[in-house]
Amino acid sequence: MTDYSMPELIARKRDGGELNADEVAWIVTGYTTGKIPDYQMSAFLMAVVCRGMSEPELAAWTEAMLHSGEVLELSAMTKAKVDKHSTGGVGDKVSIPLAPLVASCGVAVPMMSGRGLGHTGGTLDKLESIPGFRTDISPERFVAQLEEVGVVLAGQSETLVPADRAIYALRDATATVPSIPLIVSSIMSKKLAEDLDALVLDVKVGSGAFMKTKEDAETLARMMVAIGARHGTTVVAHLTDMSQPLGREVGNANEIRESLEVLRGEGPEDLVAVVLLLAEEMLMLGGVAPTRDAARNRLEVALSAGEGLETFRRVIAEQGGNPDVVDDPALLPSPEHLHELLAPRSGFVAECDALTVGRAAVRLGAGRARKDDAIDPAVGITIHAKRGEPVTAGRPLATVGWNDREQLDACLELLAGAWEIADEPRPERPLVLGEVR
Ligand code: URA
Repeated sequence: MTDYSMPELIARKRDGGELNADEVAWIVTGYTTGKIPDYQMSAFLMAVVCRGMSEPELAAWTEAMLHSGEVLELSAMTKAKVDKHSTGGVGDKVSIPLAPLVASCGVAVPMMSGRGLGHTGGTLDKLESIPGFRTDISPERFVAQLEEVGVVLAGQSETLVPADRAIYALRDATATVPSIPLIVSSIMSKKLAEDLDALVLDVKVGSGAFMKTKEDAETLARMMVAIGARHGTTVVAHLTDMSQPLGREVGNANEIRESLEVLRGEGPEDLVAVVLLLAEEMLMLGGVAPTRDAARNRLEVALSAGEGLETFRRVIAEQGGNPDVVDDPALLPSPEHLHELLAPRSGFVAECDALTVGRAAVRLGAGRARKDDAIDPAVGITIHAKRGEPVTAGRPLATVGWNDREQLDACLELLAGAWEIADEPRPERPLVLGEVR
């Protein structure tokens, strides 16, 4: 490969110029193999945040990331392979109940997820709060487990899309997350490496999402659908609300507990609604259900018979975790102390701002401020009052589970500002904002 000058490429992007496919591939490979240092890559990523990428640049960048490591070869699988990915949110634990539930209905789900990014939580961090659970799965084990259990919940190991693993962590620490091309390439490189038949995307919209407006979310969705089409993968995107946290739990072990509730046929209404919407789509794309109604019926049977829960138990055991957490969530890490955040006045919740809650959770230790920070799986926020709900002065808006006093103080400094309480209930906002296919 030709050698280029990184400062020159950074400057060209900074000034709004375009890179060719060879230059793009050189940067991705150079960073993944350690030839390009963090400081140069950070500057380049910031230039992309400010200047964007052209369509050919984005295609080349995604392609280079996809081929930065091994690509799974799943053509021997008899079942259809359908995955789901979210663009990231606060309290967004949808993947955790969804993947085993869909797999229990006969669709193979080869799920490769990410870690917490910015103020959003990551599926891998949440899963690793299950004692012993491993997300670094070799491609051989990945294929074997997919055949036996029908679902794998893994990260991009050293060999699978190593470029995304490295770039994702750097973006998290350099304020270079909110960029449509960087998000599109990060998600699509992971998903295309899974050799999928189809992909369902949950594109989050609102303060707690990387896309703050419906228009940006639609642009992102259209780009992902187009990249999927170039690779022969059907991509369907649903746009869902992320202006307040999804469900009532934010934090790693907290979100595993809530995911188990969903698999038991319980769980908060908004979370269950998003899980079912995406699961229906996956059953239809996987050829297991001909219509949305048939898919819903199949999912309801699976939930009431505990089929998804049983599949999750198998996944946990296969991936080295303690499967007893399924029956006894008390085995998950729990914080040493609880603090109740009380409502300053009575009324109705007008806002429970997802971004503020997400940032408060990071300060509490549930997410990372720097790429090498350890996270505390036990800490988290349980929300008692969401939009539209009545509150009484002096009653709890949220319970914060904490281990470190300084982290608690930093969290509380933000958290109280997440709520706006009004005298009258405000009009409801839709949970589902649209779709792109
Ligand atoms: N999810 C990803 O996998 N990557 C991003 O860049 C954002 C959300």
